Amino acid sequence: MNARAPLPGEAGLHFSSLPPLSLYVHLPWCVRKCPYCDFNSYEARGTLPDLDYVEALLRDLRGELPFVQGRSVETIFLGGGTPSLFSGAAIARLLAGLKAELALAPQVEITLEANPGAVDAARFGAFREAGVNRLSIGIQSFRNEQLRALGRVHDATQARTAVATARAAGFDNLNLDLMYALPNDDVAGAVGDLEGALELAPAHISWYQLTLEPNTAFERRPPALPDDEVVRQMEERGRALLAAHGYARYEISAYARPGRRCLHNLNYWQFGDYLGLGAGAHGKVTLRSAGEIARRAKTRNPRTYQQRAGAADSVAQERVARPEQAALEFLMNALRLVEGTSEETFAARAGQPVSTLTAARAAAVERGWLTSEPGVLRATPSGIDRLNRLLELFA
Ligand SMILES: C[S@@+](CC[C@H](N)C(=O)[O-])C[C@H]1O[C@@H](n2cnc3c(N)ncnc32)[C@H](O)[C@@H]1O
Ligand code: SF4
Repeated sequence: MNARAPLPGEAGLHFSSLPPLSLYVHLPWCVRKCPYCDFNSYEARGTLPDLDYVEALLRDLRGELPFVQGRSVETIFLGGGTPSLFSGAAIARLLAGLKAELALAPQVEITLEANPGAVDAARFGAFREAGVNRLSIGIQSFRNEQLRALGRVHDATQARTAVATARAAGFDNLNLDLMYALPNDDVAGAVGDLEGALELAPAHISWYQLTLEPNTAFERRPPALPDDEVVRQMEERGRALLAAHGYARYEISAYARPGRRCLHNLNYWQFGDYLGLGAGAHGKVTLRSAGEIARRAKTRNPRTYQQRAGAADSVAQERVARPEQAALEFLMNALRLVEGTSEETFAARAGQPVSTLTAARAAAVERGWLTSEPGVLRATPSGIDRLNRLLELFA
């Protein structure tokens, strides 16, 4: 990235309006830590302090209210960790507390992440009753030997039961998370997992390539993963299968039936604003009068978070005011989208005219990584496949 100091009059971003606002809430506990996972999640020992944690979240929220700036909240995502470990009463208290302080959009999407090893019919009913209207279930695979290799706390039967339980509780907007390129995986196995998901006909499927993340058990002792050519074949066959069943790929790993895209993640990818509540949660907010974007991160340790939530020392804030940095952060998100984004959205949310991109854009088009459509910033299929190299042109 260009590190020179800005010249006088050059610094700062110019926002004609504020982008839509979402809310992310992090619930950090799991039954057991999975060996591939680098999320800020912790094995739950003893009784979960769910109600106390919810009170901390609501204190945290009060510190975030100045960043709402008159907007309603379009989407809420209760992520983790494993939010389905929380009691119905705790989720109801949380959503009631959020509604008391925030204006929610009439059609607000409220997603909760669930693990098939932490499912209970009465609790799912209580989540629905409390206002949760979308469930995202972490299935990963329908092969029991793979689920064991991934350290999951459930088997394939429990995964199917979780989907049935969710439907019986009144959830029709379901996402299933699956991963491919698993230890010792092959094309037939990966495609079989997708077929298992398709039999359950969810509204949305997130199909992630397993990655070895820093500071995980899999990084310390890496399992044997399939080679690039096998992964390429999995993707080719898997994407064709999903398309044939009416699931349109709209982001690198996201596939939806018509009208069922995840509005919360779309807001991230379109560089909208979001507040982040909870241990280790991140937020991004546009500050119009300052000509800056504020990135806010909460302290990661759940116990420290519970003690400090709402106080200044629970938040680290970074300000983005350099146009190059804002442009790159915008593109890191928007170019993940199969449809890309409009030039107007770039100008409004990266706070600068699209002309700042002209030279890098020409280089990307020249390489066949960006389309040359007027008014649109969109990666070609080959650009999406090598997104990091494409982004380097803008750095
Ligand atoms: C917070 S978890 C979902 C809910 C719940 N904790 C669970 O695992 O069932 C988010 C999702 O990220 C995906 N994921 C986590 N670590 C990953 C990794 N190293 N590579 C690819 N996908 C990963 C998994 O599909 C997982 O379901
Ligand atoms: S259950 Fe989900 S969040 Fe928890 S450790 Fe496993 S993948 Fe990570």
